[in-house]
Amino acid sequence: MIRTHPAKEHNSMKTLSFLVLNGPNLSRLGKREPEVYGYLCLDDINRGLREAFPDITFEFYQSEYEGGLLEKLFQSEDLGTVDGIILNAGALTHYSVALRDAISAISTPVIEVHLSNIYAREEFRRHSVISEVCAGVISGFGPVSYHLGVHALKSRAAENGSGFSH
Ligand code: DQA
Repeated sequence: MIRTHPAKEHNSMKTLSFLVLNGPNLSRLGKREPEVYGYLCLDDINRGLREAFPDITFEFYQSEYEGGLLEKLFQSEDLGTVDGIILNAGALTHYSVALRDAISAISTPVIEVHLSNIYAREEFRRHSVISEVCAGVISGFGPVSYHLGVHALKSRAAENGSGFSH
């Protein structure tokens, strides 16, 4: 389905839709280890994205469950509702082969993001099992990691014309 932003109807440019998907414990942002993850809550981060990118249609989803993330990835793929996905998988990043397989199973590009620099933290966080199947990885810039993820998806879309070649 091609959705056209009213302001852009005259040149029939497609409005891009991105899913911002957050995994376990990211609902606790603001209260959870603020010295690592900062004082903004997830709603603040999501609001910041909407404000910074008024030209993008965002869908936001968070789940504490691996299965919840998998279901959302498949639903988005099957409905064809989003052009790209920004994923902070939380701790699942480091061990979820199921999540990796789900990302491999869809054609929508996924950008892996992290608030903290996972390569400058504990040994067990330095490996991501999903990076290989993601379109790119952004780690260590706090909420700006999500913004950089949007820029990355936008530039991919621009390179591929009106949409993505998956
Ligand atoms: C995180 C890093 C993960 O190691 C951790 O389990 C998280 C958050 C980040 O955004 O920095 O929950 O993905």
